[in-house]
Amino acid sequence: MDLSHRTVLIVGATSGIGRELARRFAAAGSVVSAGGRNPEALAELAAEGLTTFDVDVTDSASVASFRDAVLARHPELDTVVTMAGVMPLEDLRDPAHFGAAAATIDTNLLGTIRVIDAFTPHLIQRGAGTFITVTSGIAFLPFPPMPSYAASKAAVHAYSEALRAQLDGTGVGVVELVPPAVATAGQEQVNPHALPLDAFATEVMRLLAQDPTPREILVEKVLTHRWAEREGTYDDLVAQRSRALAMLPGRAG
Ligand SMILES: NC(=O)c1ccc[n+]([C@@H]2O[C@H](COP(=O)([O-])OP(=O)(O)OC[C@H]3O[C@@H](n4cnc5c(N)ncnc54)[C@H](OP(=O)(O)O)[C@@H]3O)[C@@H](O)[C@H]2O)c1
Repeated sequence: MDLSHRTVLIVGATSGIGRELARRFAAAGSVVSAGGRNPEALAELAAEGLTTFDVDVTDSASVASFRDAVLARHPELDTVVTMAGVMPLEDLRDPAHFGAAAATIDTNLLGTIRVIDAFTPHLIQRGAGTFITVTSGIAFLPFPPMPSYAASKAAVHAYSEALRAQLDGTGVGVVELVPPAVATAGQEQVNPHALPLDAFATEVMRLLAQDPTPREILVEKVLTHRWAEREGTYDDLVAQRSRALAMLPGRAG
């Protein structure tokens, strides 16, 4: 994928991986739009020269007016990145976890579907373009403290595979970004060994620049997760990762 002449929309670009990739695409020469809810973060990105749009991916009306505003400003939009996501810890022994489960599915899975639905007619009509969906190593190797998160990302993986098949022949491709633990605000408390954001973004941009673009963007550090089942390490790794359940409030000691 040529990263220097694209018109890119990143939904969920107000912090973390989305913001870093927005800056990387802009630095490579692409026109970049950023979507999210946080007005201060959107204003900062606007000051850097990105076009910014308010959107809440859990709200269909918000996604529809966002889509209209983005396409009015950027009728040549060719790349849509569905980055918006939440990553809560959940204790499944406490029924109160359900609120977090519902919010996670609504944001990570239904939010992805809302955004893809909003932009599919535009990309098909262009006859060329790319959706970049965002899953996680946790989609392939569960991290037991984040059960609904794992379920949402496994679902986005399955959805991405079906979307790619359904869009075959339209000129619209689907690329799945599969991050390992990356040191963004959401991760630092959970995993002190997370990959530095800068190193992750550099590797992602290098992989995206390959021609043809791989279907899955797999940085070196996520390969253990992605292929655990195939390599026969799955059960041991799940057991090892289950030790992190001690981090749940009420399980310590
Ligand atoms: N960091 C990791 O270790 C890691 C690993 C694997 C996968 N991922 C995935 O990578 C993506 C980015 O994660 P991150 O670590 O960069 O997290 P982050 O810093 O918390 O960023 C999440 C982004 O999602 C947006 N967002 C959340 N809810 C939204 C909503 N309802 N509507 C619109 N935007 C919403 C946030 O923007 P606003 O708050 O402004 O709305 C923010 O821009 C997520 O999908 C995450 O699951 C992260």
